[in-house]
Amino acid sequence: MSLIDARGILADTTSAARLADSGLEYRLVDFGDPVRAKAFQRAVSRGFLGEEPNAEALEHGRPPMQWRRNTGVYDPGSGDDELPVATVNSWVAPMTVPGGVEVGMWAISYVTVAATHRRRGIARALLEGELRAASSAGVPLAGLTVSEATIYGRYGFAPAIPMSRFTVDTRKAGWAGSLAAGRVEYVEKEQLAADLGTVHERARLARSGQIPGWRERWEGHTGMSPADSDRGKVRGVRYLDESGEVRGALAFTLREKGDTFRFSLSVRLLAAETPEALRALWRFALQHDLVDEVTADLRPLDDPLPWLVADPRGVTQVVHDHGWLRILDVPAALGARTYAAPLDVVIRIDDELGFATGDWLMRVDADGGTHIDAVHGEQADVSMGIAALSALYAGGVRASSLHAGGLIRAETETVDRLDRAFLALPSPSLDIWY
Ligand SMILES: CC(C)(COP(=O)(O)OP(=O)(O)OC[C@H]1O[C@@H](n2cnc3c(N)ncnc32)[C@H](O)[C@@H]1OP(=O)(O)O)[C@@H](O)C(=O)NCCC(=O)NCCS
Repeated sequence: MSLIDARGILADTTSAARLADSGLEYRLVDFGDPVRAKAFQRAVSRGFLGEEPNAEALEHGRPPMQWRRNTGVYDPGSGDDELPVATVNSWVAPMTVPGGVEVGMWAISYVTVAATHRRRGIARALLEGELRAASSAGVPLAGLTVSEATIYGRYGFAPAIPMSRFTVDTRKAGWAGSLAAGRVEYVEKEQLAADLGTVHERARLARSGQIPGWRERWEGHTGMSPADSDRGKVRGVRYLDESGEVRGALAFTLREKGDTFRFSLSVRLLAAETPEALRALWRFALQHDLVDEVTADLRPLDDPLPWLVADPRGVTQVVHDHGWLRILDVPAALGARTYAAPLDVVIRIDDELGFATGDWLMRVDADGGTHIDAVHGEQADVSMGIAALSALYAGGVRASSLHAGGLIRAETETVDRLDRAFLALPSPSLDIWY
């Protein structure tokens, strides 16, 4: 799909004015200027409590920032005019929605505020500025992955793509899965990064919530980032099907538990395009000699892992929030995806920031045709905040849960119809951080 280049969207004037009132400058950062680019990267690393990046780490981290829209906040009184006291960056990513099509999502990353400038409203200015910029560019949806789950609800974001963290006691779990034809082989890091990217790109349209990764993202998983203190530990394998085509790749590290000669295998990323590839790579990890424990995060909720072992109590599955979404344009966002059942409801949306406020008639015909129209003066069947609608959007959160939690107000029968319509199969997934 063709997407706009976020770098062309000007800095938000409302946030600029608000920060100027506090003596701060809010502006887009020219990453063609090496001094400013380096300062921005240093501020990001400091903001995330990372090490002072060396030249190699700066060089490796720069390319993905060059194609993003980087915004900094500068304090002329801070002693270093070039070092921002707050950072954020963004780009428009094609996110898969139910039905296997893509919608433009304003992806927000690198939100940091210097510890010297915290709790003065700078993050609020950044986030609201991002949402206004996205909306002005006609992008219907914003998204992020978060360090803390308490920060972004106030801006209308909601956890919409829950993921699983698995911990496997391999001796207890054993293995009961069938063997996949094809073969698993070790690959060097460069090849592993390429294979992860290839498989991820081929697989991502199968699950709502996924966005494309980028070269440095795959290189990060394979231990090629100079800033990665575990990089020496990363190994990788790939799965080739019977015809020799790569269908899956697995990056992992091994850590000895004390001096026991027993190891824990930590999955850094498992990308699989077919069930055979997934089975073969899980088997490689769980049946690895000397490995007592396998851990893997960011797996979809319907991952077959518990069904591949002899004793499912050897597998602990913890569900947690990962992908957060925020709808900005109700007709464009809701109209982009397909629905699992017909629907005819008036939804009243309350949005503190105003982007989505209103009454929306949502009709999904029996043939799947979807119509979303603003209506006035009609009785609403259901009312909710924009965060609740955003939680439902990818099809991984149940309307009945939000209703029981008091976040959706409607008759139970309406909630049931919303649930049937919004459900996405297979489970949504977002298996990378951004
Ligand atoms: C999180 C962070 C960006 C907040 O920046 P900030 O400028 O201090 O935030 P603001 O002053 O704009 O606060 C805005 C609101 O968020 C709340 N808030 C800020 N940080 C919060 C946190 N960590 N947890 C919960 N609430 C938080 C504030 O209380 C305020 O609430 P209110 O508007 O309802 O009164 C900053 O603490 C930071 O850089 N943390 C480390 C890096 C990080 O985790 N970044 C987020 C990456 S996803």
